[in-house]
Amino acid sequence: MLQSLSPCKRLRILASRISGRFHMGSAAAHRTVHRLDYQPPPFWLDAVWLQFDLDDASTRLRSRLTVRRNPDVANPEGLWTLDGEALTLLGVRIDGQPLARAAYEVDEHGLTLRGLPEHFELEVDTRIAPADNTALSGLYVSNGVYCTQCEAEGFRRITYFPDRPDVLAPYRVVLRADRARCPVLLSNGNPVSTRAIDPRRVEAVWDDPHPKPAYLFALVAGDLACRSDAFTTSAGREVSLNIFTTDAYIDRTAHAMASLKRAMAWDEQRYGLAYDLDVFNIVAVDDFNMGAMENKGLNIFNTKYVLTDAETATDTDFLGVESVVAHEYFHNWTGNRVTCRDWFQLSLKEGLTVYRDQEFSSDLHVRALKRIEDVRLLKARQFPEDAGPMAHPIRPESYVEINNFYTLTVYEKGAEVVRLYDTLLGEDGFRRGMDLYIERHDGSAATCDDFRRAMADANGVDFTQFERWYAQAGTPELRVDSHHDAELQRFTLTFSQRIPGQAEAGPLVIPVRLGLLGRDGGAIPLRLASDAEAPLERVLVVDSRVAQFVFEGVASPPVVSLLRGFSAPVTLVHTVSDADNLVLLQHDSDLFNRWQAAQDMLGSRVRALADAAEPDATAELSEAVVDGLATVLRDGSLPPGVRAEALTLPDVNTVTAQLDTVDIDAVDRGLTVLKRSLAERLAPHLRAVVEAPRSAQFSLTPDAVGERALRALCLDWLSCSDPSWAHPVLADQYHSAGNMTDRLAALRIVTHATDPGYEALRAELLGDYEQRYTGDKLVMDKWFALQATSPRGAVVEDIRRLRQRADFDVLNPNRARALFGVFAFNNPVRFHAADGSGYRLLGDFLADYDAINPQTAARLASALAQWRRHTPARQAHARATLSALRDREGLSRDTWEIVSKALHDA
Ligand code: TRP
Ligand code: ZN
Repeated sequence: MLQSLSPCKRLRILASRISGRFHMGSAAAHRTVHRLDYQPPPFWLDAVWLQFDLDDASTRLRSRLTVRRNPDVANPEGLWTLDGEALTLLGVRIDGQPLARAAYEVDEHGLTLRGLPEHFELEVDTRIAPADNTALSGLYVSNGVYCTQCEAEGFRRITYFPDRPDVLAPYRVVLRADRARCPVLLSNGNPVSTRAIDPRRVEAVWDDPHPKPAYLFALVAGDLACRSDAFTTSAGREVSLNIFTTDAYIDRTAHAMASLKRAMAWDEQRYGLAYDLDVFNIVAVDDFNMGAMENKGLNIFNTKYVLTDAETATDTDFLGVESVVAHEYFHNWTGNRVTCRDWFQLSLKEGLTVYRDQEFSSDLHVRALKRIEDVRLLKARQFPEDAGPMAHPIRPESYVEINNFYTLTVYEKGAEVVRLYDTLLGEDGFRRGMDLYIERHDGSAATCDDFRRAMADANGVDFTQFERWYAQAGTPELRVDSHHDAELQRFTLTFSQRIPGQAEAGPLVIPVRLGLLGRDGGAIPLRLASDAEAPLERVLVVDSRVAQFVFEGVASPPVVSLLRGFSAPVTLVHTVSDADNLVLLQHDSDLFNRWQAAQDMLGSRVRALADAAEPDATAELSEAVVDGLATVLRDGSLPPGVRAEALTLPDVNTVTAQLDTVDIDAVDRGLTVLKRSLAERLAPHLRAVVEAPRSAQFSLTPDAVGERALRALCLDWLSCSDPSWAHPVLADQYHSAGNMTDRLAALRIVTHATDPGYEALRAELLGDYEQRYTGDKLVMDKWFALQATSPRGAVVEDIRRLRQRADFDVLNPNRARALFGVFAFNNPVRFHAADGSGYRLLGDFLADYDAINPQTAARLASALAQWRRHTPARQAHARATLSALRDREGLSRDTWEIVSKALHDA
C-alpha cells in the first residue's frame, strides 16, 4: 500500500505512525544478551505447518506446531515463551481447544503459555500488514512482490514462534493469494501441489523435509518471470534450477545461473557436498537489507547480486554476483544442514562460508588477485573495526541487537581464522576436518568449538590454544627482527606478538609462511637447525609471545619474504628497506608479496609526504623505486589485474593504521602529491597502456578484466598529470564504451576530477548517463554513488540536493547506501571534513531513516564509530552528531547500540 505512494508522502505517513511507538532510548530499555547465558530450549518441534492468506494490509497466518517437551530442561510449570513482535494475535489453541484470554500472556516481545503437557499441538492465528513493513525484516512487499527475510530474528515478526536457531523442524507451508497478482508462489523445499481455490484465489503447497530453524524460512509470492535450467548431481539427482525476478530484468540473469551451476559442481568436487532437494530457487528483489539470504531451497537476493549484462554491470558486479551466488549456495551445507546453536556462533557459518566462496573464486580466477582484493578489504575495513568501539571477537561475548554483529569481523576475519586451519593442516588435513565436522553435525545446530574439535580430532592435533582466535578481539601485531651472522652463516628471525592495548591477551597460534631470497632474487633453501630438510618455503608457527628461528647455511644477509599469501590476519611490524622491497617486487615467487612490496613502498611515501611541511614527491621517490614500479606496469608475465592492484595507492585507513592520530587532510595531500608525481614520471608507460590496441569483443577472462582495470588506473593518473591530454580520451571512452566497466571508469574519473577544465564535461556526461539509464535502479545507483564519492568540496551540498530528487527512494536500501553509505565509508576525506559537515549530513539523514529501516540505518551509523583517531575539532563534531542521535526519542535498538558504543567514555 505504502509502496505505491511517492517517497516523501510515504516518509511523512511513516514518521507520523512511528513516532510514539517506542519510548525507550535508555540503556535499561535495551537488554544485553550474553553468550554464556545460553540455555537449551524448553520444548522441541517435531513439525511445523503454516498457512498464509496473503494480503497487503491484512495477511492472516495459521500455524500448527507439533511440540515435545525437552526432557533435559527442568520445567515443572510447563512454561514456554514464544517470540513475537509487531503481531496481532487472533487466537491460540492447544490440541484443538481454544485458550481463554486469561490462559496466556502477550506482550511486545512474545506469547507466554503455562502448564503445558509433554506432547501437544499448538495452533496460533495471527495477522500482519506486510505492505507497511519498511524495516524489510519479516514479511514485506518489494515492487508488489511478497517476500520474507527472517535471519536473524525476523520470523518472530511473522508469527509467535521459538525463533532461535537451535530449534529445528521440517516445514509444510500452504500459500494462498490473489490469482492475478501472484501467479508465482514459492516456499522452501519441494513443491507439493497448486490449485485454484476459487476464481480469485490460488493455493500452493510446499514441503521441506530437512529440519531447519525459523531463520531459514522463506516465502515469495508475486508476478515474476523465470529463467530455468537444470543440474545433475554426481549421485544422479536431477535438480531443477530457477531464477525469478521482475520480467524487465530476466535477460540479466544468465551469468547468475551459470555461476550457480559452477558453484554446485565445485562443492561436489572440492568438498564432496552435493545438493539435497529437487529444486533450487533464487528470487531477486530490489528492496533488500543485505546482499542475499540462504533460505533452504529458496535463496532470496538483492538484485545487485543477481543482475548483470555487459551494458549495465561492471566487472566488479559480475565477480560479485558469482561469489554471492556461490556463497548462498554453499550455505546449504555450512549454515543449513549444519546450522548454528545460537547467534554467538554466527561466524561458524559465515566465516566458513566466506572462506569457501573465496576458495571458489580463487580456483576459478587468479588466486593471488582474489587474495589481494580480500586482504585489501580486511585491512581497509576490518582492521579499523577491530580497533574501534565496536571491536568484538569473531565469536562475540554479548550483543544488544544481533543484526549489528553481521560485521566484517564475523565474516572476513572469521574467514581468515578458517583459513588458518588450512594453512596449519594443509589442504588434505583441512578436508578431513570438514568431512568429520559434517558427519558429526549434519541435521543439527553446532558451535565454533565443535568445528575446532572436528579439525583437531580428524588430524590428531591439539587446537586448545587456537580458541583464542575466537575469544580475543583486536588485530595482533607481529614484530619481526632479524640478524645475520656472517661468520656462522646463520640467519635468525625473532618474532614477538601482542594485541595493542590488551596486555592480558594470551599468545595466538600464528602461522607465518615465508621464504628467503638472495639479492639476485634467487630462492635460498630454508634449513632449520632442527630439521634435515631444506625446502624453499616454510610455514613457521609462532605460538608464544616470543619465538626465534635460526636458518643455517645462509652466506649473506637475505631478503625475507614474510607472511606470504597473508598467512595470518596480523599487522607485521618490521623495517624493510627499499632495496629489499624492490627485490621482492621483482622476484618473489609469491605474487601476493610482490603486491605487498609495492604497497609498502607507496604507503611509506604517503606517510612521509603527509608529515612533511612542504611535501616534495620528487625527493621522496627515488629513481630506483620509480623504475621498479615502471617494470611492474610493463611486466607482461604478471597478470594485468595484479599489475593494476600493485599500483593502486593504498587506502587511507591502511596507510594510517599504525598512527594514533590522523590528520586526514594531510594524508589526502600526501596521496594526491604522490599520485601526481608518479603519474608525471610514469607518463610514457601509462600512455602506452592506454594506447595499446584492444579487442572490441567483451569478455570476462581474468586478462580482459585485468586489462580494463589497468587501463582505468592509467587514465586516472594521466587525468592528474596531463588533464588536457586525458580529457578527449575520457570523453571518447565514455561515449564509445561497449561495456559498463569502461563507461563507468571514464565517468568516475571525470566526475571526481578537481581540474576546472573538466567541469563542462562532467555536467555533460552525468546528464547523458542519467538520460540513458533513468529508471534503471541498479544502474542509477552507480550514478548516485559516483557523485557521493567525489572529492570535490561541494559534495555535501550535492548529496543534500540529490536526496531531494523524486528518484531518491528512501525505502530502497540500495539507494540509501548509494548516496549515504558510500559517502560515509568510501569518501573519508569529505566525511571526516574538519567543519563537521560530513558527520552532520549523515546524522540528519539517520534521524529520519532510523524509523524507516533500523537495520540499514545502524549499519550506516557505524561509520560514525571511527571518529576517535581524528583531530580534536573533528572529534567534537562527531560527538555532537552522535549524542543528538542517541538522545532521540524512539531511536531503534539497532542504532542505539551503535551510537552508544561509539560514544562510550566520550
Ligand atoms: N546470512 C546472509 C549471508 O551472509 C546474510 C544475512 C544476514 C542477511 N542477515 C540478513 C541478509 C538480513 C538480508 C537481511 O549469506
Ligand atoms: Zn553468509
